[in-house]
Amino acid sequence: MENPGKIAAATAALSYIEDNTVVGLGSGSTAKIFIEKLAERVAAENMTLTCVATSHFSEDLGLKLGLNVVPLDEVTSVDVTVDGADEVDPQLNGIKGGGAALFFEKIVAKASKQNIWVVDPSKESPRLGSFKLPIEVLPFGSGHVFNYLADMDLDPTFRMLDEQTRLTTDSANYIIDVDVSKVDDLHALGDELIRHTGIVEHGLFLDICDTLIVGEEPARVINRH
Ligand code: A5P
Repeated sequence: MENPGKIAAATAALSYIEDNTVVGLGSGSTAKIFIEKLAERVAAENMTLTCVATSHFSEDLGLKLGLNVVPLDEVTSVDVTVDGADEVDPQLNGIKGGGAALFFEKIVAKASKQNIWVVDPSKESPRLGSFKLPIEVLPFGSGHVFNYLADMDLDPTFRMLDEQTRLTTDSANYIIDVDVSKVDDLHALGDELIRHTGIVEHGLFLDICDTLIVGEEPARVINRH
């Protein structure tokens, strides 16, 4: 059954979309609801939108529903991106990547003038760290990156499809999930992780979200100061 909080948040985000703009399509179940509702609105109002996607799944879904989805490099910037999040704190910092789409999501977010996150209330947290932080790593030498993360006391685990098979991302990389619940300075951690050779990207999305829409009735909107 669909989560009413996700539906409420995704629906409220529609009012941020203007005609003749470039829209970033997020990934995950809440973004999926947004994409479906956006396609309905575009058809009903005969809107002209250009869309870019944050995953192969969202690209395929958008195209299937009739949206004009183009490669990111075909646009100079993105007006607004609507995406989900796995955990978000009162400063609108968050953890993303539960659906393994964090790398493309961060590239699109950084190309976007406005980033809107749509979440159900369960995603709100006073302090980040209850959700495991996803880290995307190159398969080559990933055991060494795993050991580096273990030495940092981050309790790493490779994300698996089943007991034998590691999950691979849209970029054919692996995901290592780590525990950051005991880390005080997440900005410093993010800076260190991204400098480590073999790490492609991490799911700390700090100072990126501009507007958080929490799916309540009515939807609650929090803007970054
Ligand atoms: C995808 O990798 C994630 O960043 C999603 O945006 C996040 O997991 C939120 O997903 P749901 O909307 O399915 O909760």
